[in-house]
Order: sequence, then C-alpha cells, then structure tokens
Amino acid sequence: MRLSFVAASMVRYGFWRSLLMESMRIDVLCLFPETFDSPLNQSIIKRAREQGLVNIVIHDIRDYTHDKHHTVDDYPYGGGPGMVLKPEPIFEAAEAIKQQLGGSEMPIILLTPQGRLFSQAVAQELALHPQLMLICGHYEGLDERVCEHLATDEISIGDYVLSGGELAALVVVDAIVRLVPGVLGSQDSASNDSHSNGLLEYPQYTRPHVYQGWSIPAVLLSGNHGEIAQWRRRQAILRTAKRRPDLMEEGNICDEEKKWMLENL
Ligand code: ADE
Repeated sequence: MRLSFVAASMVRYGFWRSLLMESMRIDVLCLFPETFDSPLNQSIIKRAREQGLVNIVIHDIRDYTHDKHHTVDDYPYGGGPGMVLKPEPIFEAAEAIKQQLGGSEMPIILLTPQGRLFSQAVAQELALHPQLMLICGHYEGLDERVCEHLATDEISIGDYVLSGGELAALVVVDAIVRLVPGVLGSQDSASNDSHSNGLLEYPQYTRPHVYQGWSIPAVLLSGNHGEIAQWRRRQAILRTAKRRPDLMEEGNICDEEKKWMLENL
C-alpha cells in the first residue's frame, strides 16, 4: 500500500518535472575524476549539460581526507589480501554535498558488483529523481559501513568485476540522462529503444534502399504507417524471442502476436 503510493507519487512527480523541464543533478564520488572528462563531454550528455538539463558534478574522494598523504584506503581487519576504502572520506564527502544542496534527501547509490542488476527499468526509476548521488568503489573493497549506513541502493552493471565503479557510474549516468525530459530530440527516440517496452528494438534501415544487392524490406517503402508499425512490432517480438527469450515474459504480447511468432520463429 505504502510502496504503491510512493511509486505513484514518483510517477506523478516525473510527469510534472517533464512539464516544467526541471533539471536533474547527479553528484559522483570517486577516486579517479579524470575518467569522466571525455565521456561527459561528448554527444548527448554534453548537449544536455550545455542546455542545463542535467548538472553532473564529479567529486574526488581524496579531497575529503585530512592527512598529508590523502589516504583513502587501509588494510582489512582480520587480515587478507588487498586494501579497503576507508569510510570517513566517503561519509564526509556525502555529507558536504548534502549540505551544499540544502540538506535534501536523495538516493545514494553505490556501484558494486554485489548490487542489484542495472536495467532499463532501473534507469527509468532513477530518472524520476531530481537528485542522485553515485559512489564509486575501488580497489579490493569498501568498508561495509558505507553500504549499511550511507548507501540507500547498490547497483551492479553486470556479472563481471571492473577495476572500479567509475566506468559503471558512467554507464548508469548515460542511461539515465537520455531519459531526462528534453534531452533527446523527440521523446519517441527513447520510447522506441530496445528494452523500453520489454522487447529488443526492431531492425532499422536508411538510404540507399538497395546496397550491394541487399534490399530493405518492401513494407518500409509502402508509406502505410499501420503496416509499418505492425511489421516493426512483429520484428521486435521475433528478435527478442530468438536472441533474448528470457525477456519474453516482460514483452506483453497478445495471443495473436504469440501465434504469429510461433509460426515465424
Ligand atoms: N565495480 C566493479 N565492478 C562493478 C560492476 N560490475 N558493477 C558496478 N560497479 C562495479
């Protein structure tokens, strides 16, 4: 009951935010800020930042240390290999950012291979928030008290281990930013994306209509929008069934589409 109320309020909030074109702020805490320089200054994200639709602020966790050597990690209690990221600079950085933003509450997301799996649905959920904080782990580990008492969510971008959370944060930021209202030229471009309706995207073609003897499907030249929409929908279903049968449950296909799919698989 409470959860559905929160979800409904968030959806409503996202709707009003899209009408008001309110910008989104994302603060990223990391150890290697330079990692973000080039990706955040290209293409869609660059344009979104220039237009003031998103404000992405990268913070160096080392700036929140107080010793001469700017120590961010230490040996693990109980022994064992590797170093563990210390809690103090991370808590201090997060607190300083919260205060800068007027003490507002926001999701604080730790990027870790132990988190819940990132997906288009998670990106859509996170894009509804006006503010997000991402924390990038690094080295062999991170003091568990950050997970227990600071992070409100833990996200993994896949079942593999990266050297640190920076690349994972970039993936998450990119997927979210393109969902912020006004960032893509037309809202259609995001709603047609693979995964946005639970299916993979249909095949796309552009000119020339014959290339090296390979013609594009004739229906796309027919000018019949109904037939084109049906062809695209069916192709999306077929492609998903062949490549990602695990997604078919989410695709919401009707009996007629199911019958057509089984005849054409
Ligand atoms: N840090 C290291 N590996 C990661 C992963 N797969 N997802 C998110 N953060 C990570």
